Amino acid sequence: MALISFYLLFFLSKIVSATDTITQSQSLTENQTLVSKNENFQLGFFTLPQNSSNRYLGIWYNKIPVQTVVWLANREKPVTKEIPAVLMINKTQNNNDTLILHQNYSVLWSITPSRRARNMVLQLLDSGNLVLREKNDENEENYLWQSFDYPCDTLLPGMKLGKDLRTEFDRRVTAWKNEYDPSIGNLSWGMDVTNWPQQMQRVGSMKQYNRGSWNGIDYTGRPTIRPSPVFEFKYFADDEQVYFMFSLVNSSVKARMVLNQSSYKLLHLAWDEAAREWNVYGLLPRDFCDDYGACGPNGNCDVSKLPYACDCLRGFRPKSSRDWKAMNYQGGCLRDKPLNCESDGFIKYGKMKVPDTENCWYLNQSKNLEECRDTCLRNCSCMAYTNSDIRGEGNGCALWFGDLNDLRVQPNAGQDLYVRVPASELDTNNGDRMKIGFAVGGTITILSGLLLVLYFIFIRGRSATMKKCASVADHLKEEQEEDLELPLFDLSSIVSATDNFSINNKLGEGGFGPVYKGTLENGEEIAVKRLSRGSKQGVKEFKTEVALIAKLQHRNLVKLYGSCIQDQEKLLIYEYMPNKSLDLFIFDQTQRMLMDWSKRFHIICGIAKGLLYLHQDSRLIIIHRDLKTSNILLDSEMNPKISDFGLARILEVDQTSKTSRVVGTYGYMAPEYALDGNFSVKSDVYSFGILLLEIITGKKNKGNHRQKDGTNLIEYAWNFWTEGRPLELIDEYMIDYCNISEALRCIQIGLLCVQQNPHDRPTISFVVMMLGSEIQLPLPKEPALFVGKYSCQEYSSSCINDAPSVNELSISDLEAR
Ligand SMILES: *[C@@H]1O[C@H](CO)[C@@H](O)[C@H](O)[C@H]1NC(C)=O
Ligand SMILES: *[C@@H]1O[C@H](CO)[C@@H](O)[C@H](O)[C@H]1NC(C)=O
Ligand SMILES: *[C@@H]1O[C@H](CO)[C@@H](O)[C@H](O)[C@H]1NC(C)=O
Ligand SMILES: *[C@@H]1O[C@H](CO)[C@@H](O)[C@H](O)[C@H]1NC(C)=O
Ligand SMILES: *[C@@H]1O[C@H](CO)[C@@H](O)[C@H](O)[C@H]1NC(C)=O
Ligand SMILES: *[C@@H]1O[C@H](CO)[C@@H](O)[C@H](O)[C@H]1NC(C)=O
Ligand SMILES: *[C@@H]1O[C@H](CO)[C@@H](O)[C@H](O)[C@H]1NC(C)=O
Ligand SMILES: *[C@@H]1O[C@H](CO)[C@@H](O)[C@H](O)[C@H]1NC(C)=O
Ligand SMILES: *[C@@H]1O[C@H](CO)[C@@H](O)[C@H](O)[C@H]1NC(C)=O
Ligand SMILES: *[C@@H]1O[C@H](CO)[C@@H](O)[C@H](O)[C@H]1NC(C)=O
Repeated sequence: MALISFYLLFFLSKIVSATDTITQSQSLTENQTLVSKNENFQLGFFTLPQNSSNRYLGIWYNKIPVQTVVWLANREKPVTKEIPAVLMINKTQNNNDTLILHQNYSVLWSITPSRRARNMVLQLLDSGNLVLREKNDENEENYLWQSFDYPCDTLLPGMKLGKDLRTEFDRRVTAWKNEYDPSIGNLSWGMDVTNWPQQMQRVGSMKQYNRGSWNGIDYTGRPTIRPSPVFEFKYFADDEQVYFMFSLVNSSVKARMVLNQSSYKLLHLAWDEAAREWNVYGLLPRDFCDDYGACGPNGNCDVSKLPYACDCLRGFRPKSSRDWKAMNYQGGCLRDKPLNCESDGFIKYGKMKVPDTENCWYLNQSKNLEECRDTCLRNCSCMAYTNSDIRGEGNGCALWFGDLNDLRVQPNAGQDLYVRVPASELDTNNGDRMKIGFAVGGTITILSGLLLVLYFIFIRGRSATMKKCASVADHLKEEQEEDLELPLFDLSSIVSATDNFSINNKLGEGGFGPVYKGTLENGEEIAVKRLSRGSKQGVKEFKTEVALIAKLQHRNLVKLYGSCIQDQEKLLIYEYMPNKSLDLFIFDQTQRMLMDWSKRFHIICGIAKGLLYLHQDSRLIIIHRDLKTSNILLDSEMNPKISDFGLARILEVDQTSKTSRVVGTYGYMAPEYALDGNFSVKSDVYSFGILLLEIITGKKNKGNHRQKDGTNLIEYAWNFWTEGRPLELIDEYMIDYCNISEALRCIQIGLLCVQQNPHDRPTISFVVMMLGSEIQLPLPKEPALFVGKYSCQEYSSSCINDAPSVNELSISDLEAR
């Protein structure tokens, strides 16, 4: 009712004109709007909820219940005084008419059309474009002016981002200063056209993210070659103009790209009619390596190697090895040995995002790779080359002079880049040697012997140098000054806040240690995690890690306020969650009745979004490794927040993807992780699948093995699924009020997440997409059922879990239990 009356009020206060145009004799006042022909967009005056004294003339989506402004006229000069504002075409005697927004004829905003016009009309089109044209012009697209040429923070389908080379007219997107103030912020997105054109996001004048250049197939910065399900990216370049544009795969979907100043990201959004919210399909920059020049000049960024993401290109060494080892990579790399010019060679790097094209020379004409290489070799200052069009055999030639900036590996996309090195570097190239070996011939056995020897030399040499580096790094770290911005709490204040870790204040026993409720002197409530003392990690590494984790901020993650390290104590201080954890709701006989489907679905989506942030959108890739219902906390509005993220990372120095220390909770652990110690984002997806099935069924997964009745939750769900009775899985307490199609989708997604083979499991971003759209879901393959295959003796640590009292505890050999 409240909502309806709000809309009534909203609409009553506006005279929604049935028209999409104003002519010379008409005007638009603050109580009127224009609506485009098919009612997609509306033009009128609006206020921002935070500051309703300011009024703006803008365009917003007509049929979306969330006010979504896509363009503003008087961005810098709001209507403030009580005098009503009017938009009108001001006619003059000599047909030099203008469009003005004024208050009692004091002008706030005006436009002068590109040429004189006899009889102007202003029209709002269904694309969201506001155009000024001559009334009797035969060619309706012969605009005198159009709002699409003056983007604000939003790019709509059909809008151009780029430059007119004849007039130097530059169309760029600029963020709002903040959500209260639409004036121009310092985050911008535009096209650099001097050389091989590239899309650049900037903060002020500083480059922030390079989306890259068009290589015939896609933008070089795009992480995948898969087409987007929503957006179709386009590029156009000739002598007169260069621009980027996007269109929609399904033209009845509403989608936009918007720059957001507070997160410093470019968002790709599509409207979700069912959920009535904007779904995020892309967030740029995505990760550490996307940050412009993350590894400095001549450094190559590979996000799979985090936190040691940066490497110098072959033939280069860190400019400052001290900085480099302290993971401060901005200084980049220098040539190790001088080039010789004619005798130099090239090393090929595959799957690369090509360097910043500012120092690039670009020939968009037929030139094969061989010719391109020769051109580069002939000029001693040419540092690298590649095809500028990678379609088919490859075509075009891009050459770089000077430092190579902003390089990164794109594991699922990218192209070959050839980097110049002195001939001596080529000699030590194992790959080339092997090739020569093959060319010379020789029997397979001799060769494999040779390879084996090479392999051992290589590995042994490497591990020796790695060890050396590690000890140097440790030494350097000790010398470093503390400069971390993480709040450090004083132990005495925490002791008094928690009443000396009183048992009465104990909230529970999570993985890695007990959690206490505390009240700070200022009355603020906190949750204190007291880490068990088993960790062998040094104080500095601990602080560094905690500082990194504290930077992870998302509305579906529990906020870390700070830490306290004193007298052998390691404490983490979090925001306090009044509704405690999810397991207390869904597995409780009375509480579960309060959990209707919409709440459960909201929680599922929230967890998925939090996990997406951990896996993809934060600057680090965080694998949670202990996702379970008791680690999902609920705030006062029942929004889910993932807790304990990053703890596996804090407590374990080992960053490789194979670990002998299995942390996690049996029942939630993917088989390949529980049994072989192989963890990846896909093992988190598995745990998410279990969580999802638990939320839907209201049944606890009691561990993967040795169940008396021989079944577990996955098997239970799989049996119902294969028998075509998935509805019977849904918690009986909510079946009557449930959105059946959503619930069935969730069951199917849950089963997709727990498939045996990690490669078959969807990524969390795909999960988010499946949850938020109506796309056809794949059929799940058989899930990981390893009941009875492995006995308890083989994996003795898991035996603890059979005792009901500790069923929910996390396994961690770091703890002194
Ligand atoms: C709309 O506003 C104009 C000027 O502000 C005023 O003259 C007119 O009476 C208003 N119309 C309605 C229906 O409120
Ligand atoms: C609202 O806008 C006015 C005028 O721009 C400004 O003076 C005032 O500080 C703003 N208020 C808030 C809460 O932002
Ligand atoms: C409208 O046009 C007239 C005639 O050219 C001019 O004198 C007047 O200043 C204009 N009004 C505004 C508000 O620009
Ligand atoms: C039309 O008006 C613009 C500014 O409003 C002025 O610069 C231009 O000289 C005028 N042209 C003519 C032909 O009057
Ligand atoms: C509008 O401007 C005129 C002339 O400048 C002035 O006399 C009048 O009071 C103004 N009206 C309002 C409502 O401020
Ligand atoms: C930027 O994003 C944040 C978080 O999603 C949101 O609160 C804010 O309104 C956005 N800012 C703008 C200017 O849209
Ligand atoms: C950009 O603006 C934000 C505030 O909106 C400010 O904190 C930041 O320092 C600015 N950055 C630059 C490089 O100007
Ligand atoms: C396009 O989207 C609309 C609305 O979401 C949907 O009804 C329609 O089936 C979609 N069309 C295609 C071809 O996917
Ligand atoms: C190169 O030029 C051709 C034709 O002039 C054009 O079709 C193509 O898009 C251009 N490629 C790039 C990468 O600019
Ligand atoms: C090499 O290329 C640079 C940059 O294009 C150019 O300035 C220089 O003259 C070239 N040198 C030779 C020897 O061609």
